Amino acid sequence: MYTPQTLILAATLLITADCATPNVSLVVPPAVKISDTATLDCKLEPFKGTLHEVKWFKDGTIIFQYKPAEVPPGQSFNVPGINLDLDKSNSSRIVLSNVCPNASGLYGCEISTKEPFFRSTLHTAFMFVVDVPEEPPTVKYRQVNANIRAECASPPSNPPINITWVVNEGKTYRGSDTHISTHINATRNHPQVTLSILELFYRDAYKYGMAHVRCVAKLFDLYHKEAEFVAFDVETFTLPGQKKLVVYPASKEPVPLEKHFVIYFLLVVVVVGALYGYVWYKS
Ligand SMILES: *[C@@H]1O[C@H](CO)[C@@H](O)[C@H](O)[C@H]1NC(C)=O
Ligand SMILES: *[C@@H]1O[C@H](CO)[C@@H](O)[C@H](O)[C@H]1NC(C)=O
Ligand SMILES: *[C@@H]1O[C@H](CO)[C@@H](O)[C@H](O)[C@H]1NC(C)=O
Ligand SMILES: *[C@@H]1O[C@H](CO)[C@@H](O)[C@H](O)[C@H]1NC(C)=O
Ligand SMILES: *[C@@H]1O[C@H](CO)[C@@H](O)[C@H](O)[C@H]1NC(C)=O
Repeated sequence: MYTPQTLILAATLLITADCATPNVSLVVPPAVKISDTATLDCKLEPFKGTLHEVKWFKDGTIIFQYKPAEVPPGQSFNVPGINLDLDKSNSSRIVLSNVCPNASGLYGCEISTKEPFFRSTLHTAFMFVVDVPEEPPTVKYRQVNANIRAECASPPSNPPINITWVVNEGKTYRGSDTHISTHINATRNHPQVTLSILELFYRDAYKYGMAHVRCVAKLFDLYHKEAEFVAFDVETFTLPGQKKLVVYPASKEPVPLEKHFVIYFLLVVVVVGALYGYVWYKS
């Protein structure tokens, strides 16, 4: 009834079902500096069977293939702007050396195995080659009474730099009292300036009558520079050490000192009473 052939077929089907969906792990650095080396990894997890072929693509064009059955197994294809380091590339990795701006693009890999047969779909990820600017962002501001309008402009870059604002190290920052708008000119694949405008409308932003405002500019983990200023509010400004240390938000009145006294007094009465009761109970 069960011939060896049917058994082998059944076993193969079982193994195939077991391995029908191995995961492709593709790791592409999101950004690299011009002239640096980029390492891109692609492998099956878990890996079962015999590797048949790995193919790498950039923007849909094949740049590298690895076939263990061929000599040499690794072969690169001449694509302008791509310097693939054949010696350092293997079945699970490609190394691009001295990257230039036009190496930016969508990288993808495809893996197939035999025994059992498996062919992955194309997995892709984008890599930016960035000309990292040297200059910090520039900030200028205008103040009318306690209201501040600040503009922060990043140096041009592709992709554009991310700008975030920090007011008094975030301690008195209230989102609802501020307005932030960011503008980037829509010219693709061209270095662009990010312009961010911060508007602070209330005194809550001030601590001791001062607002310390930082514009934080970041580009992946390749660039992190800041510009800052301190604005003063003449009506609430106090030197540290002076009495008027806390600026109360307009909406909230400070708790009168008398109320604190009443609460402390009641607390003391309760604690002393409890202690008294305990001592009396023990004796
Ligand atoms: C593939 O990844 C998914 C989600 O990350 C996970 O649930 C699954 O177990 C993985 N499959 C294998 C064969 O590792
Ligand atoms: C990519 O840039 C390099 C050097 O900057 C240049 O030699 C090459 O022609 C460019 N390739 C394409 C496709 O633009
Ligand atoms: C490919 O090369 C890298 C670096 O030399 C190494 O860590 C990795 O194990 C290699 N992969 C295979 C499948 O041999
Ligand atoms: C965007 O472009 C316009 C016109 O080209 C220019 O006036 C404006 O200053 C630019 N904005 C930024 C943030 O570069
Ligand atoms: C900007 O910030 C977003 C969100 O944190 C992040 O996903 C993106 O990669 C950043 N872009 C750059 C160019 O740093």
